Amino acid sequence: MITRLLQNTDEDIAYAADLIRSGEIVGMPTETVYGLGCDAGNAEAVRKVFAAKGRPSDNPLIVHIADRADWKPLVRDIPPLALQLADRFWPGPLTIILPRTDRIPSVTAGGLDTVGVRFPAHPVAQALIRAAGVPVAAPSGNRSGSPSPTTAAHMMEDMNGRIPAVLEGGSCFCGVESTVIQLDDAETVRILRPGFVTPEQLQTVAARVIVDDAVLAQISPDAVVRSPGMKYKHYAPKAAVTLVQGEQAAFLAFMRQHTADGVYALCFDADVPLCEAEGIACCPYGDTDEARAAAFFRSLRELDACGAKHIFVRAPRTDGVGLAVYNRLIRAAGYDIVTCR
Ligand code: TXA
Ligand code: MG
Repeated sequence: MITRLLQNTDEDIAYAADLIRSGEIVGMPTETVYGLGCDAGNAEAVRKVFAAKGRPSDNPLIVHIADRADWKPLVRDIPPLALQLADRFWPGPLTIILPRTDRIPSVTAGGLDTVGVRFPAHPVAQALIRAAGVPVAAPSGNRSGSPSPTTAAHMMEDMNGRIPAVLEGGSCFCGVESTVIQLDDAETVRILRPGFVTPEQLQTVAARVIVDDAVLAQISPDAVVRSPGMKYKHYAPKAAVTLVQGEQAAFLAFMRQHTADGVYALCFDADVPLCEAEGIACCPYGDTDEARAAAFFRSLRELDACGAKHIFVRAPRTDGVGLAVYNRLIRAAGYDIVTCR
């Protein structure tokens, strides 16, 4: 199969929408990461997505809509808190899990009786979903386990020859996947996966916000968890990754002791001059949580392309958007975390 790179034109979007309606898969941009989109109601198409990704069948797909009215047929009931969250954060990087109706086949839901729904903010995603006229199921567009794609070129790297088309939509603004939440009760939000919508922002709408234990903990592959995606090794480049916690001076002292061929520091921008002075090979990934979120999947891919063997990442903060970056990094590192003082 030859994978076509489609452009952001009416004609190409209509072509991509036809592919989706006819049960095919399209690599599509969103504001978070690129996804592998298909008709959420077409079980055969969904099976193709699982196969293209190499994804375990118990890991459910998020269903994307481009009009609030399209949410209702997919879920059994929309509680007031869910409506308030949608009012505040949609369109945007928030996925809300609710009990599903029969419109969502069991295979899309990974066998669960719930579905996560999201209304993406990216204009090309919205145009595609509207043109397709069906809810679009889309996991992140990476091969299972590798870093999520944040450009159409990354999508091509992972999916060339596996899907009929990738739709160009530029670099993803957020760079980390959506915040995935469920509602424990009428006033409690539980974060199953942190993302660009932060716990602090959710707190402005919900009386209580709980960060699920799985967000920061190591989960064994046979554990029963609320969000199946939490238990798999994830987001990992080919190089080994170690997360290094500590202030700048401690990080640099650590790197001095670990410098060797193929070893790179993925560091904050402000660390670069000091790394260079010490002869430590480095790649900066930003000085704010938002910048680091936008850059770090791309940086992992770039370091792989440089032939990196081991990447030591200076750990981000664990509040705000930093929590999302930290959550992806501990999985990319296979929980190899060192703390230096
Ligand atoms: O930003 C995003 O969410 C991107 C773009 C393409 O929209 N999509 C994405 O999908 O990241 P995926 O499949 O790579 O990650 C979805 C995560 C998985 O960890 C999955 O287990 C969890 O959300 N999830 C989806 N539906 C769920 C459900 N009904 N119950 C519990 N967890 C669910
Ligand atoms: Mg993913």
